[in-house]
Amino acid sequence: MSSQSSIKRACIIAVGLVATAIAGPCDLYASGDTPCIAAHSTTRALYSAYTGNLYQVQRGSDSATTNITPLSAGGVANAAAQDAFCAGTTCLITIIYDQSGRGNHLTQAPPGGFSGPEANGYDHLASAIGAPITLNGQKAYGVFSSPGTGYRNNAASGTATGDEPEGMYAVLDGTHYNGGCCFDYGNAETSSHDTGNGHMEAIYFGDSTSWGSGAGSGPWIMADLENGLFSGVSAGNNAGDPSISYRFVTAAVKGEPNQWAIRGGNSASGGLSTFYSGVRPDVSGYNPMSKEGAIILGIGGDNSISAQGTFYEGVMTSGYPSDATENAVQANIVAAGYAVTSLTSGPALTVGSAISLRVTTPGYNTRYIAHTGTTVNTQVVTSANTTAIKEQASWTVRTGLGNSGCFSFESVDTPGSYIRHYNFVLLLNANDGSKQFGEDATFCPMAGLNGQGNSIRSWSYPTRFMRHYDNVLYAASNGGTDTFDATASFINDVSFVVSAGFA
Ligand SMILES: *[C@@H]1O[C@H](CO)[C@@H](O)[C@H](O)[C@H]1NC(C)=O
Repeated sequence: MSSQSSIKRACIIAVGLVATAIAGPCDLYASGDTPCIAAHSTTRALYSAYTGNLYQVQRGSDSATTNITPLSAGGVANAAAQDAFCAGTTCLITIIYDQSGRGNHLTQAPPGGFSGPEANGYDHLASAIGAPITLNGQKAYGVFSSPGTGYRNNAASGTATGDEPEGMYAVLDGTHYNGGCCFDYGNAETSSHDTGNGHMEAIYFGDSTSWGSGAGSGPWIMADLENGLFSGVSAGNNAGDPSISYRFVTAAVKGEPNQWAIRGGNSASGGLSTFYSGVRPDVSGYNPMSKEGAIILGIGGDNSISAQGTFYEGVMTSGYPSDATENAVQANIVAAGYAVTSLTSGPALTVGSAISLRVTTPGYNTRYIAHTGTTVNTQVVTSANTTAIKEQASWTVRTGLGNSGCFSFESVDTPGSYIRHYNFVLLLNANDGSKQFGEDATFCPMAGLNGQGNSIRSWSYPTRFMRHYDNVLYAASNGGTDTFDATASFINDVSFVVSAGFA
C-alpha cells in the first residue's frame, strides 16, 4: 500500500468517525463492560444508534395511543408529535419503553403492599405535559410523578438478583421532591410487597428523614435497600451526603458483594462526586443482598405511593460500573444540554394584575370563578352587581408560590388567601407559608383545551385542571375516579376566558 493510499484511507476513517453520532450513555456503559439491561427515557435516545420507541401516550378524547420516537438516531424525543396528537385534549404516559432491547418496559404499577388510587388499585399514570424541558434547545417532556403515580415491571429480564452486581443512574428534577415514601428508580421486589431487608437496590431522591439522611435539610440522593433509605453505612445520618439544590440532578447508585456507592452531580455542568463508597450497611439482611430484579419508578418496593419527583432518563446495568464509566456518562448528560423551558402557554397572564375567569361551557358562560367563604365556586357576575360580589369574582395574579414558572391566584377581597387544591377540591385558604401550601396553590395556564381562553392545570398534579362541576371548582382529571372527573363536558369545563378583574 502506498503512503498516498494509506493517507487517503486514514482520511476516510476520520470522516467516518466524525459522521458517527456521539456515544450515548448505554454505549459508554457497554464500553466499560457493564452494559445497560434497562434504559428508560422520555427525553432522548440513550444509545447513539437508537431510533425505536421512547414512550407511549394515550389521549383522553378517544383513548387512542401513539408512540414517540427520537427525531433522529440517538436524538431527542419528537415532542412535536406528542403535541399534535394531544392537541385539544389530555394525554397520559402509558408506557416508558426499554431501549436496551430486553423488553424491560415500564407500565402502570399494580397494587402491592399498598394499593394505588385507581379503582382497580393500580397507580395513576403521569401527565404527558407535566415536565417540559429542552435538550440543546429541542423541547422534550419528562415524567412528572405526583403522589399516587407509579410505573413498574415485575418480570424484568437481565436485572441483578441476589447479590449480583449492578449500577444505575437517573436524571431527576432536583426541585421536585417531598418527604413521602418513596420516589425511587431501580431494583425492587417482583411481588410488589416488602419481602425484607436487602430485597431492593434503588435510587431514592427526596427529603424523607424516616430512615437515613444527609447533610442539611435535603433533598438527598439515597439508596432504597428496603426497610431503609440509606445515605451511608448506617441507617442514620451521613454528613458526606449533601443536600441537593441543582434543577437537574444526576443520581447514581451501584452495588456489588459487600460494596456499594452513592454518587451525584449537576446534570447541566461539572462532574459526579462520590457521597458514599464502602461496605454494605451494618444491619442484618443487607450483606449479602437479596435483590429480586423488578424495576420501579416513582414508588417504593411495596408500592408506597406518597412521594413525588420528576424523572427524565435513567438506566440499570449488568455489573458494577467503574467511576470512570459513570464520569463519561455524566459528561454525555451535560453535553445533552438539559435546560428549563416555559411551563405555560395560551393567553398570557400578568403578575400583579387583577383578573376574572369566565366559564366557557355552553349554558354556563355567564358564570365566573368566585368564592363564598372558603368555597371556590362559579357565580353569575355582571358590571351591575355589588362591589362585594365583584370582588368575590376577582383574583390577583401572583408568581406561583410553589414554582415561579407558574402562577397563584390571590383573592381580591381576602388578601393573603389563595386558591389551592385540597383532596382535589379547590378552596380559598390563607397562605401558611408551607412548601405544601405553595405547591397546592400553584397553577399553570395553557391554551384552552376547547380553543377558548386558558385551561389551568395544577402544577403539582398536572393531570388535574381547574374544573367547574355543579358550580363548584375542583382539581379534576379527565376520566378519573371522582364524580367531578367525568369525561363528559371535561374539555369545556376546564376552559376559562381570562379578562380584567371586576374589582
Ligand atoms: C349579579 O347580578 C345579576 C343580574 O342582576 C344576577 O342575576 C346575579 O344573581 C348577581 N350575582 C350574584 C352573585 O348575586
